Amino acid sequence: MAEITRIYQKFQPSHYNLFIDVERDTKKISGTSTITGDAKTTDIQVNQKGMTIASVKVDSQDVPFTTDDAAEVVNITLPKTGEVTVAIEYSAPLTDSMMGIYPSYYELNGEKKQIIGTQFETTFARQAFPSVDEPEAKATFDLALKFDEQPGETVLANMPEVRTENGVHYFDTTVRMSTYLIAFAFGDLQSKQTTTESGVKVGVFATKAHKANELNFALDIAKRSIEFYEDFYQTPYPLPHSWQLALPDFSAGAMENWGLVTYREAYLVLDPNNTSLRMKQLVATVVAHELAHQWFGDLVTMKWWDDLWLNESFANMMEYVAVDALEPDWHVWEMFQTSDVPGALNRDATDGVQPVHVQVNNPAEIDSLFDPDIVYAKGARMLVMVRALLGDDKLRAGLKAYFAAHHYGNATGADLWAALGEASGMDVGAVMNSWLEQPGYPVVNAAVVDGKLTLSQKQFFVGDGKDAGREWQIPLNGNFKETPTIMKDKQIVLGDYDALRQSNGKPFRLNVGNNSHFIVEYDDTLMQDILAHKDELDSIDELQLLQDMRMLADGRQLSYAAIVPLLTQFADSKSTIVNTALYTVAGNLRKFTLPDTPEETQLRQLYGKLSAKQVARLGWEAKDGESNDDQMTRPIVLGASMFAKNADSIAAAHDLYQANADKLETLNATLRPYILINEMREFGSEELFNKFLTAYQKTSDASYKTSLLEGITATKDAALVKKTIAQFENADVIKPQDLRGWYYELLLNKDGQQAAWDWIRDEWSWLEKTVGGDMEFATFITRTADVFKTPERLAEFKAFFEPKLNTPGLTREIQMDTKVIESRVALIEAEQAKVNAAVAKAVK
Ligand code: BES
Ligand code: ZN
Repeated sequence: MAEITRIYQKFQPSHYNLFIDVERDTKKISGTSTITGDAKTTDIQVNQKGMTIASVKVDSQDVPFTTDDAAEVVNITLPKTGEVTVAIEYSAPLTDSMMGIYPSYYELNGEKKQIIGTQFETTFARQAFPSVDEPEAKATFDLALKFDEQPGETVLANMPEVRTENGVHYFDTTVRMSTYLIAFAFGDLQSKQTTTESGVKVGVFATKAHKANELNFALDIAKRSIEFYEDFYQTPYPLPHSWQLALPDFSAGAMENWGLVTYREAYLVLDPNNTSLRMKQLVATVVAHELAHQWFGDLVTMKWWDDLWLNESFANMMEYVAVDALEPDWHVWEMFQTSDVPGALNRDATDGVQPVHVQVNNPAEIDSLFDPDIVYAKGARMLVMVRALLGDDKLRAGLKAYFAAHHYGNATGADLWAALGEASGMDVGAVMNSWLEQPGYPVVNAAVVDGKLTLSQKQFFVGDGKDAGREWQIPLNGNFKETPTIMKDKQIVLGDYDALRQSNGKPFRLNVGNNSHFIVEYDDTLMQDILAHKDELDSIDELQLLQDMRMLADGRQLSYAAIVPLLTQFADSKSTIVNTALYTVAGNLRKFTLPDTPEETQLRQLYGKLSAKQVARLGWEAKDGESNDDQMTRPIVLGASMFAKNADSIAAAHDLYQANADKLETLNATLRPYILINEMREFGSEELFNKFLTAYQKTSDASYKTSLLEGITATKDAALVKKTIAQFENADVIKPQDLRGWYYELLLNKDGQQAAWDWIRDEWSWLEKTVGGDMEFATFITRTADVFKTPERLAEFKAFFEPKLNTPGLTREIQMDTKVIESRVALIEAEQAKVNAAVAKAVK
């Protein structure tokens, strides 16, 4: 792929007049992009991809041009420099790639229908209209849209429509904005609308395949999020409307187009009466994330893609800040602790990981930047550290100044640190750059050395890691008042341990609240002290202990065998996140066993022992008025009891299935996946399989679809595994956007793994062709590496992926994932006997 030069340096657009004609029937786009701007030289470039350019005119005169498809540009020779208006007439195919302008398919009352929508981030606006498609090239846009319109269709764009003339829809001029945030859509849509306190129109739009009440939840969250941000940022929402649109085909999760945010259906519409609390929280955080971007990202945009983290890390933190304010009872920061935090800790521990801030040049590299565990999770953790250091008042003051200084413009990371530094009087950049620019994170060792409480930091690795001598400025959050706020050195001595322990009156702990991006390794004295006072710990503390021990065990600084005897101490916790952390550790013990072996049976017994009391306490029916924690802990412990092959649980799930066999969608959404999995594994048949698959194809309820997917991919039957795979390339049944989930679930199933792995190797070119441009394409490799744990699979993985090392955008992923499997295989080899012996002892 060709290197990109920044074409904005040569030609700086100020205004676009866009005319776009979309023909669904012939799958063709045509139009004219008329760009007024400042030409710094007479040889300029404008981005285009896959277009046929009919003419380029300057002041109505044809000018010479050549297209360069490798560089994704049209080269234009201008008659003069300075202010020019360039009109480019073009046509292009309308493709099913989920990039640029593309159709989304769905069925309504048996009829096949489509919605046209757009996805322009990162570099796909150039597939829709010729443009200087770089984030810094902000301009205003007038959009005129024509299409083969049917009566009753709805047309949406960033701005409101001002008039329709001869079948052309004209939209109001936008504010100054980047090309990747332009959006429009049309089709047979329904909507729910409301208005914020400040007068912004808010709407949720979806196909009519959904029930009207499925739009309510997102509408309420969207309205209140905008109200929250207007207050938090002290900066008004600058557009007249904020539309949220669910598209049936969507490659990412959601996209923050200014004024017209697009979502996968699963992340916007939901049945208010039967959706798990976890899923509601997820939808709320996705909506809040995209709406955070309306300021951070849309109003102020990163100057270049290397500062993408500015957008994503920030929105990822704000989604929690906002939802925590809107729904305090959800304790949504707890979800951060069980999703983003372990994600970042795992990924960031493998040598070769990218730092949050990365230099990038070509489009494939830009897409590979969107590493959810780094740019999103680690980046958000970084900003959580900043928030904890500054406090909300100074953070808000800094942000207000940042928006005021850069609104309708662009900024870099340094600009943000400067604004926050100004507001707080702290050198924020100095602390944060050690996190932003360096890959990895430290383990802080806390130990009593010669009677002195001593802390030291070194980089933490899972698998082989080259110690590059990295050091971090670590916000320690120690609970002894003698602990410094920031640890700047490799080693510090806090003083005489006995005296400190006495005067502080509690066990010594670091990273209280688990908001800093490091793990702690306590020596035996300190750890025993903490465990002896376990009842003084809150749920985040307990989760942190389990999480850090698990990381240390994966990094071979502690043995899983040493953790096993501690597990029962956490098993009766009523906290969802403690249970999540507990069963994450337990889940990690599974890697030491092979299917259908005595070791596996023992591990199943351990699961049974850990979950028995909780299963008895919570049961299979939700109770009126129960706590959120009980609601969310139930599926965790029931899942554990199913793994334990608990006969009562299997029978209870089967009873629930039978009682609802003709109305499976009404089964409690929180438990439904377990019930369907149980039915398929214990009582599966071809008839059941067909029933699930037909229901999957028919329903428009994304959460029900996921339950069915889990049920189907749980089959033990080789013929049914084959039937499942036969649907992988049939978009009428399994949409390409959902394929990752199908592949992963089948790979996790011991009876499906071989077939899934054979499929991906055989069908790699089809996969690349179908979803290769997708920002999450590399996830297929990551998920594979998540599952593999034997030397044989490692060898197969290498044999298949090593020849692909030079594929743009996949290089790092293949290198990282090879290491991930290698270190897992080595860990298992070294510890298997010891760990399984510890499990055997624990169940005696
Ligand atoms: N801007 C991204 C979506 C995006 C990323 C589009 C990369 C194209 C390339 C959006 O704001 C986002 O972060 N979406 C997330 C969901 C979010 C709630 C974490 C996604 O799509 O995974
Ligand atoms: Zn985002």
